[in-house]
Parts: sequence; structure tokens; C-alpha cells
Amino acid sequence: MNYIHALISRKLNFYGNTNPVELTGKYGSPLYVYNESVIRSKCSELKGLTDYPDFVVNYSPKANSNVEILKIVKDEGLLVDAVSSGEIFTDLMAGYSPEDIFYVCNNVTAEELSYAIDARVKISVDSISQLELFGKLNPGGEVSIRINPGVGTGHHKKVVTGGQSTKFGIDIKLIEDVKRILNRYNLTLSGLNQHIGSLFMDSGAYLKSAEIILDIARQFNNLKFIDFGGGFGIPYNKQNNESRLDLKTLGEKLTQIINNWIKEYGRQVTFIIEPGRYIVAESAVLLGSVTAIKLNYNIKYIGTDIGFNVLPRPMIYDSHHDIEIYRESDVQSAKSESVWIVGNMCETGDIIAKDRTLPEIFENDIIGILDSGAYAYSMSSNYNNRLRPAEVLIDINGNDRLIRKKETFEDLVDNFT
Ligand code: LLP
Repeated sequence: MNYIHALISRKLNFYGNTNPVELTGKYGSPLYVYNESVIRSKCSELKGLTDYPDFVVNYSPKANSNVEILKIVKDEGLLVDAVSSGEIFTDLMAGYSPEDIFYVCNNVTAEELSYAIDARVKISVDSISQLELFGKLNPGGEVSIRINPGVGTGHHKKVVTGGQSTKFGIDIKLIEDVKRILNRYNLTLSGLNQHIGSLFMDSGAYLKSAEIILDIARQFNNLKFIDFGGGFGIPYNKQNNESRLDLKTLGEKLTQIINNWIKEYGRQVTFIIEPGRYIVAESAVLLGSVTAIKLNYNIKYIGTDIGFNVLPRPMIYDSHHDIEIYRESDVQSAKSESVWIVGNMCETGDIIAKDRTLPEIFENDIIGILDSGAYAYSMSSNYNNRLRPAEVLIDINGNDRLIRKKETFEDLVDNFT
């Protein structure tokens, strides 16, 4: 087995006692491979973001909700959020107690809201109309509201969730309406939360939004918690030496903002962040096989079994993922060339990497798509009736363990009536 182009995974000893060729032989291709040590170290980094004593990290499992991964995150002491009844269900399955689950919902039905109320999880609503629905279903209850601070951030306009052009959160101009509904249904406002977008590498907007939510919080006397949201970015372009998010400076500034505010507020409040991507993105490599190579009108296409059903991010957001190459034979790549790495789906947009310069790739090579732990498996589908792959964990001792089976054809037809 040859690591042809694999500096990043080699530096991390990502595959432990095994290797990518052996793993795809054993579990099939494509295959998601996670590394437990990476997940644990990311949890530790964020737990240490601030030295404010009452600080909680809520993991956001929309990034990755494999129950084995949730158990690792729980073991590291992180709490958890949920955006759907299904996520509440899997959080509970991972062993979380209801009071450690924060349901941050958007445009849900009365049935969905009742599910959360009955499950006794913490609930945040993000419109006046959903606050009223909550009041009708659970008069006298405790609730939190999601604020839209008017500031947003994110790697793509589709993932900016604060500011003027997003459906999320309550416009800060409507706080008086919030108070009216709280009174009408005798509700206690226990927390304020926000999430302004996904993947920032510059923390300016995040810090600004923290000041805005704290300004709103002054108007409410009995808050138990304030949640600034997630969005902490990771460098997807490591092969080009992209810098990491400066967590130290972000943490110092956030601590200062919190300490100044708490002096004035005068009572104990829990501060929360809600990261998904930062915890898991770098913990996985998606492995796939090179199935065909062709030259089509001067473009060299490297055909693989990684369709956008398996990894939708490049198709949806034009996202960049670094690529590694592993080979079973001893043949070395003599040259580098520009290629398009594509999948096996029936759409032209099924492209993993466009115009990427890589060492020459051959049929049967294994390629690794780096930083595939977040919004990858969790966004996969059965489009084209293709099966979702297996997921494997490299544990802290470097040994591989299956944490989700590959789907079967029966899974495709199970729900037909
Ligand atoms: N909290 C709420 C309410 C959210 O909506 C999200 C993400 C998070 C926390 C976690 O954000 P993170 O720390 O992971 O950035 N599919 C896109 C990302 C969508 C993020 C959706 N909400 C992607 O692949 O880039």
C-alpha cells in the first residue's frame, strides 16, 4: 500500500493500525472513516474556549448524528442540540437526558412541538407565531427564543442564518410582541439563543452578534442561559496551507464581552456555544475508488464511486475538499496534472473537484476526500437508488470498528406499501 499524495492523513496517523486500501477491501467502497482522537481533541479545544466558569458546549448533530459519534461527544462532556423530532430521538438514544437537549426548531407543526414538550427537552422557538403555538400547547411553560441579531456570516449565502435575508430568528424590532405573548400565556423566558451562520474564519460578525444578543438580554430579568450559536470554521484548504480559525483570540474577546455584561446583569447565567462542523469535520476521510478515467474534449475526468448522493457539499455549495491518493501497487506517479474528479451520478454537476492539480491517478486507486465528517453522511441520500456507504471508526488505540452498516437494496424498498 502506497501513500501517493497523503501528507495530511500521514501527519495525523489518521488510519492507525490499518490503511485505506485495507479498509475499503474490508468494508466496501465508498466508505466513511472517522478518527476518534480527532473528535475528542476538537471537543477539548472548544470546551477551553473561555474560562468563564458557567460555559457549555452544545454539539449540533445535524453535522453528524451517528449515535456512536454522539456517545463520544457526550463522553467528552458536551451537551447537544436538536432541530427535529428525529434528532431528539437519536440524542436520547445516545444517552442524553432530556434536560441536556436543546431543541432549536423552525416552522414546526403542532405535533412536532408537542413531541418536544412531551419529551421534556429545552425548547427554543424562532417566530412570534411559533411562540404563540408554544403558549397554546404549554401555557405556563418555560421557553427560549431565537433572536436574529441582524448580522450574519457563513461560507455560502445558503448557510447565512442571521441578517436581513434569512427566514431564521425573531427580528429584534419585535421584542415587545415577544413580551406580550409571554404574558398572555404566562410563559417564562429561560434563555435567548442565536446562530448567525455556518463557517466563519474571521470572528468579527460572531462577536458583534454576541454584543447584540446581550443587549437584548438586558430587557429580561430571569434568564438562565444565553446561546451564541455555532459556525466555527475549519480550514478545508490545508494542502494550500489555509490558516486555522484563531480560537484563542476569539475566546479572549468573548470572555471579556461576557464578563463585562455579567457584572451589570448581576446574576448567574450559563453561556453556550453550539458548534457542529468544528467538532467533527476534520475527523473523517471519505474513501472511494477510481473506476474510470477518460479525456472528454480536453478535460481529463477521474471517475469515481463517490457520487453527490454520498457527498453533496461540492454540488450544493461548490465546496472545496482536499483530496489524497492511495495505491495498492508500487507504481509511482511520475507527473502532476490538472483533472476533474467526478462521481457516478446522472447529472453533470456531479463533480467533487474541478481543475484540481494532483499526481497522476490510475484506475483502482483509492482517493480520500478530506474533512468529510460534517454535513457529509448527514446530507447523503438514495438519489439514483444508490446506497449509502458504511461508516467506520478508528478508535483511540488505532483499531477499526464498524459504526454503521452499508445500506442494502432491501433498504430501498422497505417502505413501499
Ligand atoms: N445551531 C443551529 C441552529 C444551526 O442551524 C447550525 C447549523 C448549527 C448550530 C451548527 O453550525 P456549525 O457549527 O456546524 O457551522 N450544510 C452546510 C452547513 C449548514 C449548517 C446548518 N446549521 C454545509 O455543508 O456547509
